[in-house]
Amino acid sequence: MRAHAVAQPNIALVKYWGKRDTGINLPAAGSLSLTLDSLWTRMSVELADGAESDTLSVNGAPDSTKLARVSACLDRLLGPSRPKAIVESESNFPVAAGLASSSSAFAALVMATAKAAELGGDTLSLARLAGASSGSAARSFYVGIVELTAGDREIDVRCLARAREWPLRIVIAITEHGPKRTGSGEAMTRSAATSPFYRTWLERQDGDLDAARKAVIERDFDRLADVAELNCLKMHSVMWTCRPPVVYWNGATLNAMETVRAMRRAGAPVFFTIDAGPQVKAVCLPDVCDEVTAALAATAGVKQVMVSGLGSGARLQDQC
Ligand code: PMV
Repeated sequence: MRAHAVAQPNIALVKYWGKRDTGINLPAAGSLSLTLDSLWTRMSVELADGAESDTLSVNGAPDSTKLARVSACLDRLLGPSRPKAIVESESNFPVAAGLASSSSAFAALVMATAKAAELGGDTLSLARLAGASSGSAARSFYVGIVELTAGDREIDVRCLARAREWPLRIVIAITEHGPKRTGSGEAMTRSAATSPFYRTWLERQDGDLDAARKAVIERDFDRLADVAELNCLKMHSVMWTCRPPVVYWNGATLNAMETVRAMRRAGAPVFFTIDAGPQVKAVCLPDVCDEVTAALAATAGVKQVMVSGLGSGARLQDQC
């Protein structure tokens, strides 16, 4: 009745931003992401028959704010008459700060719960269950460079390339440690309801996904860089044009983007992407990783830099 799992967050290059069906959390379009290796979330789930309510602790402290979403995920997996659960989560990076913590958290939660309840199920079915709680979590079940395609009723997810096939590096410039003011779920709903650019954004997602997939298959860094930067700026343009606007960036976000843009203009194989938060993720080839790390660490307002390669999918652990 007790199981442990670990999962790594993933960073999207073609973003998931909008839902076809909010009831089952089905994405409106496909996405493409990089599963990281040096960031992780470990989840321990104990199904406790006698307990009266679920409990959640995050990094050793009780967390009531995230409990409702965790309980809803457990209901979805185990049904309404399930035993209550004692859930312990631990991460080695800031949570809810635009570092894709929900992707690793819900991937690890679903993996550990499925084991604790002896549900069985292959990787894709567990990924689909996790995707119903956090769209990006479905991608954290897969290694390396990952594509998610969105059908009318369900998603499909697959690995396009492993780390050894294309050893991309991700340098994360943290510009703010606190939690973001607007959650991605709320920002997505607001985007669909109020941004004049939302429909155009969705219409062009398939084209961006095709271009990014082709770039990955052909290991064409420049083409991947072009489509990823454009896709990121389009997603943030949709957010900026919401009513009220959703602006996750700060001054240091712009500084870090400019650091990456200047290096790219000078010929370095590096590009940026930014999720629902103020952190800048620079994706580069291994030979410029040290240079990119040093340049971002020296950028005004950047508080911390983390470096990662491509990692594996969610998996069970003997203990946490
Ligand atoms: O999976 P969610 O509900 O946390 O939304 C993820 C949204 C982005 O990180 C901004 C984009 C993405 O594809 O991961």
